[in-house]
Order: sequence, then C-alpha cells, then structure tokens
Amino acid sequence: MKKVIAIYPGSFDPPTNGHLDLISRGSKIFDELIVAILRNPDKNPLFSVGERRGMLEAMTEEFNNVRVDTFDGLTVDYAARVKASAVLRGIRAISDYEYELQMALMNRKLHPELETVFMMPAEQYSYVSSRLVRELAQLGGSIAGFVPELVEQRLKEKLDPAIKLQNARTKAGKRT
Ligand code: PNS
Repeated sequence: MKKVIAIYPGSFDPPTNGHLDLISRGSKIFDELIVAILRNPDKNPLFSVGERRGMLEAMTEEFNNVRVDTFDGLTVDYAARVKASAVLRGIRAISDYEYELQMALMNRKLHPELETVFMMPAEQYSYVSSRLVRELAQLGGSIAGFVPELVEQRLKEKLDPAIKLQNARTKAGKRT
C-alpha cells in the first residue's frame, strides 16, 4: 500500500505546545510526517533556523514517523521533492480560517494533487501562537504551559544572555 507522507510547514519561531499537539495528532494519521521549517529571508526571526530545528528535533524525538527538515521557495515544490501528498495545517479559531483557506486554495491551484488537511489543536492551545509567546517572554510574562520546557529555557537564554552563561557554567561544573 502507498505510504502517505505529509508535510507540516511553518515558521515555528518558536515551536509551541500547540505545534507539538498538532504533530502528535498528525503522526497518528500519516505514515510519515515532515515538520518543515521555512527558511524565510524576509522575516527577522528570534531564533535561527538551526535553533528552531534543534528544538523541534528534541520535541519530536519520541515519534518515530516524524522528522524535521528546512526548506525555502514554494511549499508545493518542497512537498513534491519529498513526495508528500498532504500538507498539514492547524486551525485554532475562525480568524485563522480565511488565511488558511486562501493558502490551501492557492496551493491547490499550483499543485492540484496536493491535499491540505486541517486539524484542530486541543482547546487549551487554541489561543497559543508563536507571536504571543514571543511577546509574553519579551515582556516578562510567564510562558509556562504554552511551550515545552526546553523552549522555555531557550527563550529565557535568548532574552537574557546572562542566563545562558550561568547555565553553561553549571553544565561545565557538573562535568568536572
Ligand atoms: O507558521 P506560518 O508562518 O503560519 O507558516 C506559513 C507558511 C510557511 C506555511 C507559508 O508562509 C508558506 O507556505 N510559505 C512558503 C512560500 C509559499 O509556498 N507561498 C505560497 C503560499 S500560498
């Protein structure tokens, strides 16, 4: 039987528990799920593509049919390169729908064989977005529960380099 490969494209700056929830759901219905980080030169991201890839790889370690990759150019072209027949996207609220519909229909026009599959994250993540997480973290609000612990740590280090230095010293201390 044909293996169904899906891609889950996005910016993931940073990856959230909402993304993880969707990855977990997607991994149950697709044979293989590729989390594809867009290398977007127009954006000014908080985390480099390499940092985002590292976080996503750690977050998805437990799923043996999920892998993380990066891409540039059109999503439909990337999907064709990796032989994916579906694009997974999350819809949280009605406000997401218009943009997602536009994107899905444009992608269908460009590549009619590629299906977009929408999934809803768990309710507790229905208001979580990377943008709000970044804003909360930058303004000193708690992001606990919105992102995995690893991402929380990376955000703290990114926004306060002193914490990074302290963590590196603690690690080095443990090794000696
Ligand atoms: O996490 P995001 O930022 O909502 O993801 C948006 C993404 C990466 C899925 C979208 O911007 C995209 O597919 N970009 C690649 C370029 C492309 O194919 N553009 C045409 C989309 S109709």
